[in-house]
Parts: sequence; structure tokens; C-alpha cells
Amino acid sequence: MGDFSGRHVFVAGASGGINFAIAQGFGAAGARVTILSRSEEKIAAAAQELRDAGVNAIGIACDVRDYAGLEAAYTQAVAAHGRIDVLISGAAGNFLAPALKVSANAFKTVVDIDLLGTYNVFRASWDHLTRPGASLIAITAGQAVHPSPFQIHACAAKAGVNMVTKCLALEWGPAGVRVNAISPGPIADTEGMRRLADPAREAKLKGSLALRDYGTKADIAEAAMFLSSPAAKYITGTILNVDGGNDIGDASADALTM
Ligand code: NAP
Ligand code: COA
Repeated sequence: MGDFSGRHVFVAGASGGINFAIAQGFGAAGARVTILSRSEEKIAAAAQELRDAGVNAIGIACDVRDYAGLEAAYTQAVAAHGRIDVLISGAAGNFLAPALKVSANAFKTVVDIDLLGTYNVFRASWDHLTRPGASLIAITAGQAVHPSPFQIHACAAKAGVNMVTKCLALEWGPAGVRVNAISPGPIADTEGMRRLADPAREAKLKGSLALRDYGTKADIAEAAMFLSSPAAKYITGTILNVDGGNDIGDASADALTM
């Protein structure tokens, strides 16, 4: 999907999973890539994997809850790769727990990583963005709009991520900065699915999706490249569901024949 040669793509929360696949996708399309996550060891290994695949990539260890750390990360990234053309904010934390087992600190921790982290990643980037022209993308989730038991923390955080996306799209649009979000559905072979989905219920979950299968990490990478391509130059403030129809409702045979 497209040619990103000469463009600088910065992906926050990208030591693995969906966000790393996004970095791989842009890298394969010619971009210079910066990836960031908390773990020095994991981000160094991920950056090496990108370089081994021929991508001009660096990895930076930083927690998205550390605003000053992000400012330093952007300075380092821009010195290496130039101004940022595409910025992805995908760091997140989640676990299943009933509200009465989610302490105030546990709730705050997830909100701090997902919501405040996305705000930090976007806000601290301003001086380093290609303006006009930059494409900013938050990675949200269906939990932002569909209340889910045992995920009160993630639902609240991702709802806020959607609103940060839309508010910033309003404010930064006049400067030629587009801000969108991608809402993945259940994506195979990810930490999110390992934490949230019961493998014994895989057939039932797939059967409830209109497209009857889990998505792939590459599906999300393709969507991010589309949103950052000239084809999407008039798209801002949108939440793009890449979810096999998860958002529109239950498409299981039972539900359809009721
Ligand atoms: P993942 O592999 O756990 O990815 C999360 C990434 O964020 C990791 O690279 C992690 O690396 C980093 N991270 C976590 N806390 C951080 C922090 N405080 N500061 C900086 N980096 C941090 O999970 P995933 O399943 O691929 O999910 C990726 C994104 O997609 C998330 O935003 C998630 O909500 C969204 N999503 C996933 C699914 C799914 O099916 N998996 C569905 C809908 C939405 P370190 O541990 O090195 O920090
Ligand atoms: N159930 C209930 N509470 C939990 C929990 C669980 N499964 N896991 C952690 N917590 C609580 C802790 O007990 C702590 O609260 P307390 O101080 O009241 O005891 C609070 O959450 C913070 O935990 P801590 O381990 O210090 O946070 P962290 O910043 O090191 O890690 C997490 C953040 C908890 C979200 C961790 O799971 C993580 O790093 N996740 C990243 C990967 C991920 O979730 N990927 C999927 C994305 S969809």
C-alpha cells in the first residue's frame, strides 16, 4: 500500500504485536522508522529485526507516561531521520478484572498508559511534525464505544483516546495535520487476544463476526498506510473500524435468525 520512501514514521508502543507490524509495513514501503516502547531490551531487539529486514530503523526506550522522556525521544528521532511524517500512538495495557478487583491505581495505570500516553505522544510531537502534511493515528479499540464487563479501565481509557483523536483533529487540521484512529477488531496472534479472549470460545467469537474470522496484524498496517497516503488526504477525525464487522453487531447464525 503506497510508497513511503523518504518519509519518517514514528511508532509508539512498537516492541511487538500490532504496532510492530505497522512499523514493518511502513518500513517495507520504504520509510525511515523510529519505534519506541518501555523495555530497552525489547525495543533494541525489535529495531534490530527491522534493520535485518533492510529498514533504516532506530529504537528508543521510553515510557509514554514520561512527557520529558518523549520530548527527548523526538529530538533523538528527528536528528536521525528528519521531521516526522507519520506518527502512530499504540501503547496500551489491559487485563480482565471485575471493577471490584480494579484498584484506583490499577484503573489509573491503564488510563495513564492508553489515554494520557496518547495525549503525551501527540502533544509532545508538535514541534517535530512535518507541517503541513503529517498523519497522526491513535490505535483505539471497540471497547471505546462498546461497554465490556471486566474492562472498565480499558473502556474508559479508549473512549478518551477517541475523543483526543477528534479534538486534536479539530485543532491541528488548520495546520495541515490530520488526526485519525484505527479501531482493530480481534487480531490473531497478539498479546491483546492472549489476555482477553478464551481460546475455547474462538469458534463462537469468529461466528459472531460478519466476516467470520479474526483479522491479521497486516490488516492494521495496511489501514495505517492508507490513512497516511495521499488517498486519505481529506480524511481527519475519523475512527476507522478494521474489525471484520465487530462494531456493527452480532452476526452469529442465532442472532440473524431470531
Ligand atoms: P502488545 O503486543 O502488548 O503491544 C503493546 C505495546 O505497547 C508493546 O510494544 C509494549 O512494549 C508497549 N507499551 C506498553 N506500555 C507502554 C508504555 N507505558 N510506554 C511505552 N510503550 C508501552 O499488544 P497488541 O495486542 O499488539 O495491541 C496493540 C494495540 O492494539 C493496543 O493499543 C491495543 O489496545 C490495540 N488493540 C488490539 C487488539 C487485539 O486484537 N490485539 C484489538 C483492538 C485494539 P513494552 O512492554 O516494551 O513497553
Ligand atoms: N487485575 C487487577 N489489577 C491488576 C492486574 C490484574 N490482572 N494487573 C495489574 N494490576 C494492578 C496492580 O496490582 C497495580 O495496582 P495496585 O498498586 O493497587 O496493586 C496496578 O495495576 C499497576 O500495576 P503495575 O504492574 O505496577 O503496572 P505497570 O505499569 O508495570 O504495567 C499493566 C501495566 C498492568 C497494564 C501491565 O499488564 C502491562 O504492562 N501491560 C502491557 C501489555 C498489554 O497489556 N498488552 C495488551 C494490550 S491490549
